[in-house]
Amino acid sequence: MSREWIDTRILFGDPEAIEEGAQWIRQGELVAFPTETVYGLGADGLNPAAVAEIFRVKGRPQDNPLILHISEIAQVDALVREIPQVAYSLMESLWPGPLTLIFKKSDQVPDIVTAGGDTVAIRMPSHPTARELIRRSGTPIAAPSANLSGKPSPTNAQDTYRDLKGRIPLVLDGGACEIGIESTVLDLTESPATILRPGYFTQEMLGVYLEEVNLDQSIVKDGVIPRSPGQKYRHYAPKAEMTVFLGAPKSVQKKILMESERLQALGKKVGFLLFEEDRENMHLSTNAGQVVFGQGSRKDLRTMAHRLFASLRAMDFLGVDVILAEGAEEEGLGISIMNRMKKSASGHVVWVEERG
Ligand code: TXA
Ligand code: MG
Repeated sequence: MSREWIDTRILFGDPEAIEEGAQWIRQGELVAFPTETVYGLGADGLNPAAVAEIFRVKGRPQDNPLILHISEIAQVDALVREIPQVAYSLMESLWPGPLTLIFKKSDQVPDIVTAGGDTVAIRMPSHPTARELIRRSGTPIAAPSANLSGKPSPTNAQDTYRDLKGRIPLVLDGGACEIGIESTVLDLTESPATILRPGYFTQEMLGVYLEEVNLDQSIVKDGVIPRSPGQKYRHYAPKAEMTVFLGAPKSVQKKILMESERLQALGKKVGFLLFEEDRENMHLSTNAGQVVFGQGSRKDLRTMAHRLFASLRAMDFLGVDVILAEGAEEEGLGISIMNRMKKSASGHVVWVEERG
């Protein structure tokens, strides 16, 4: 089959479409599908040639391992060398859901999935379309987020299609992803368990099931090299240049208004990512093609997570030059959101001092 241009279909994920997806997967082709976190770009996780296609299509660095997606806890046995005791309550309580667990890998897992490493990442997604696709495929599905490498993860079928059209045969449409940021990656191969990538499940939430849980230091400290390969790459980047502002709401609002005036005087098209409360306070004029996206209330970080990637992609679509965004306090889910925002902004974070 020619690899140059494939007709990409986008189908609502009803049983017939899911069966078609499963057939593609069994034939070694790629299918994009919805999960509760972000859309995934799936291939038969036990077929090295199919998995190699994921890396090629995404332009993903070869040393960044993939997550195997399963539909039953019983599938874990064959994929890992051992299941540590602490894994059971996590799997039983939090799967299916936005939690990826790292185990020692078995010989059944192809090296290309784990980027040659001896550990494997496994997750059971809760989105019914994902679960049914995996079940019908009869194999664990290796899947990274369905964006081209470097871009924000897609959280709806249209954004997925925009990245992958012409490259894969099928995008299954399962609506907008409920969570909107990727799963929490938890390493169980050492004690205490360590969060390598923060996600919907926070350190506090995992603490309910584990005696002790660490947060990889790179997540909270600048300049520490992350232990998860994927965390070190340029990521989630919109085309626009982005700055994230933190500090007391009033001071942040003032600073953002000043910045936007300066940028507009330079002829730049400015996009704003603002909390609802502040957006009302700021009385932004809607001239000069400014674009304003709400990220929910300051007190509602779930909405902020849910909308983040879709807003960044919409800014690109609308031709925004510069994004000015309000950041979240780094606490709980705010840690996971800021982990993404800092990468989107290539580290341009401004702490606005309060003035008396
Ligand atoms: O929510 C999600 O996890 C989404 C959906 C599609 O399931 N998937 C996703 O995959 O975000 P990806 O490939 O974009 O991110 C996987 C992350 C990367 O940071 C990768 O380095 C890390 O998991 N990872 C995978 N296998 C690993 C391993 N064996 N050890 C450490 N980190 C691993
Ligand atoms: Mg990704």
